[in-house]
Amino acid sequence: MPVKMSSSVLVAGLCLMALTQAANNHLDQHNLVYRSPYLNQDSLALDTHAIVKRHEEGHSILRKRQAQQVAPTGTPDNYITAGYGLGVVDWADASYIFGGNLNFTHSVASGDPYDYSVLLWTRALPVEQAAVDVPVCVTYKVFDGLGGSGNVVASGYAFTSYDVDFTVKVEATGLKASTYYSYQFANCAKPDQKSAIGRTKTAPAKYGTNLDTQKFAVYSCSNCPNGFFNAYGGPVQNQDVDYVLHLGDYIYEYGTGGAPINRTNWDGKELASLQDYRLRYNQYRTDPDLSASHSNFPWINIWDDHETANNDWKAGSQNSNNSYPAGCSYGNQTGICFSERAANAKRAYHEWIPIRQVNVSDEQRIWRDFRFGDLIDLVALDTRKYDRDITDLTPTIPNLQSVSDLAVQLNSSRSMTGPIQEKWMLDTIDDSLARGTTWRMILNQVIFGTINHTSTTPNPTPTSFSINYDAWDGYQAQRQRILQHAHDKEWNNTYIVTGDTHASWLLENNLHTVLEGTKMANTTLGPNPVDTAYKRGQLVEFGGTAVSSNGWGNTWLNEKNATSRAATGLVQNSGSLFWSEGFYRGYMAVEVSYSKINTTFYGYPDNQVKRTQNRMTLAQFTVPAGQNQVQRPFKVQAGAVKPGN
Ligand SMILES: [Fe+2]
Repeated sequence: MPVKMSSSVLVAGLCLMALTQAANNHLDQHNLVYRSPYLNQDSLALDTHAIVKRHEEGHSILRKRQAQQVAPTGTPDNYITAGYGLGVVDWADASYIFGGNLNFTHSVASGDPYDYSVLLWTRALPVEQAAVDVPVCVTYKVFDGLGGSGNVVASGYAFTSYDVDFTVKVEATGLKASTYYSYQFANCAKPDQKSAIGRTKTAPAKYGTNLDTQKFAVYSCSNCPNGFFNAYGGPVQNQDVDYVLHLGDYIYEYGTGGAPINRTNWDGKELASLQDYRLRYNQYRTDPDLSASHSNFPWINIWDDHETANNDWKAGSQNSNNSYPAGCSYGNQTGICFSERAANAKRAYHEWIPIRQVNVSDEQRIWRDFRFGDLIDLVALDTRKYDRDITDLTPTIPNLQSVSDLAVQLNSSRSMTGPIQEKWMLDTIDDSLARGTTWRMILNQVIFGTINHTSTTPNPTPTSFSINYDAWDGYQAQRQRILQHAHDKEWNNTYIVTGDTHASWLLENNLHTVLEGTKMANTTLGPNPVDTAYKRGQLVEFGGTAVSSNGWGNTWLNEKNATSRAATGLVQNSGSLFWSEGFYRGYMAVEVSYSKINTTFYGYPDNQVKRTQNRMTLAQFTVPAGQNQVQRPFKVQAGAVKPGN
């Protein structure tokens, strides 16, 4: 028998459902951190319903307490619904939110600029002990003048709590393209209590034309104990870039190690738990140069392996795996299974980095693209964590064929990106070319071209070769497929920026030279000719050195002459490698105009000695539009050049 319901009960029920629905939605719509990165995965996601309920219950307890003391003024019930976005509220009078002092512990940051919006980030830590059942509330304002001057052009508020390490990530919208803004957060309860003022810049109009030169700083591999973060301070000091790109290894998971410069890890243990990863981001972001870069420029981040663990892939890392029959215990120094470790790492990353989730139904995805008018498209990959097949591991997992086995490298089903991302990458670049966009820059984690590293090993012989199978050299079939596509579709003005190696490189990759890696391994595959007249399909690759991480240039070769000898061997032994430098730590500055791309490699000679802005130019390369190769002769102040260039 059907249950009858009066219309008023039905309406009240529907209203309650709507309120609850809205309340729950608004928690993670206001503060994007609550949805990152597992909104739809019940086992991993934050239960925003439970958090809202906790806050609601906390509020009614608070009201009862207040009623026993002083009769409350106003109608604080409204704060619950208003607090989750259903109305306007005078926060200074709200008993519902944390009413104490807030410490904006890590300044501010911005990221993932679009032509109409940008993400703003801060961390609002209660100074006094905060009750867990009331939310911490912050407001934000975006100003059209610098330093908090001018008109407020966007504003809002968001809640945060211990559930997300008191981080806040909001999207400021309604902005103009290619425009500088300043922004600031404040304590809702005490509006005079404010964060630092940040500066950010939106991307140029998606369909914009006649754009100015766009300037990017490109970083990778910042290891706090290994050296100072001077490279992050360079563009702040010189004010010579607009946007920052980070290609991964933003943190390192190691417990100990590094230079004797008093920058040891706070906890001194290898990261595994959520708290571990959070604390590492917390420590790194106290670095004054890193912090200043974040508060001066919008960043676009992608991750590499060390945001989770060394040499990770979709189901394991060097020292933690779920796949071996012994399960989580194999080679595991952290006491936690890889899948749980990776989930913790990703959550902390999304809490601390102002990165967008571009597809809420594919939450593991960080690969995404950015359009800068008809000048350049940025195509940012995830070659690590999304869908990568097993990589080079030391020790190798028993019962698994080593990836240094050529048959493994040439297995066409083995992938660095997974098939979905590979198709997206090829389609995105094809579409960009079809639209007539002048340039494409692929943001890539590990070296794409072939490098014979034998000269950096202790006892090289003239015929020996040493390949980094953790780079694209370990995934040759997929690389060949991409280069064949680039060749067939006559890709033009498409180049790659790469991190990971802690050294500087210039490569010109095409089907012919890249297959030299395969030839060195004695295969019968012959070279494929390229169109030498136009070099269509050739991908110039700039590999940037580390911000601070040790590399071959400052371990056993920690001496300029030895580094230089090794670099000479590298360019001699690697067909597509034209310049190599391994001694200096620093970054790349890339300036993009319609007629050319200029890439400058900077180094910091005293990077393991002190905090300094003593920056030197290592090399400058120009790629003229339509040439698909670097202009000769090279302008190089350090490292080794292949003879004849
Ligand atoms: Fe690295």
